[in-house]
Amino acid sequence: MSQKYVEKVLLTREEIQKRITELGAEISRDYAGQDLLLICVLKGAVIFLADLMRQISVPVEIDFMAVSSYGAATVSSGVVRILKDLDVSIENRHCLIVEDIIDTGLTLKYLEENLNSRQPASLKIVTLLDKPERRQVEIAPDYCGFQIPDEFVVGYGLDFDEKYRSLPDICVLGEK
Ligand code: PRP
Repeated sequence: MSQKYVEKVLLTREEIQKRITELGAEISRDYAGQDLLLICVLKGAVIFLADLMRQISVPVEIDFMAVSSYGAATVSSGVVRILKDLDVSIENRHCLIVEDIIDTGLTLKYLEENLNSRQPASLKIVTLLDKPERRQVEIAPDYCGFQIPDEFVVGYGLDFDEKYRSLPDICVLGEK
């Protein structure tokens, strides 16, 4: 049986914080004079949300959604199930979806359509990581921390089988 191990650090905690400071400044400039609702997609994005929101200078509120795919077959069908919906209405509000990683893009495609149907004033996407090589549907984040190669990454909120989320750096998971 193969075993997973942390092969190398891809992004250090310092690199991550530096980029988040830049993202926060950009977002603050773009939303100047407006209130913003940050919509965090559980669970991987919680650490990114916590760091990002403290770098945004306009007033922010936060809310959470949990979604899951309908098993293996759905990876390609893009059918996503809402496990936890938002607590608040987003009608006429400026909303920013906060994701940790975009892979196939299916989760965000679904979320974008679902949230847009609720008539927000605006809806944008910020992701810490983007794997453009893996994309199956057309979706592009409005703000992106880092584009990364197609490697399995863990840490800074990202998991493998619910483990490794607490690693401070983003690491590549290897197999031996
Ligand atoms: C990850 C990530 C995105 C989704 C991206 O979540 O947080 O929500 O996968 O993949 P996609 O672009 O192929 O749709 P995951 O299902 O691993 O849940 P987690 O955040 O709770 O770990």
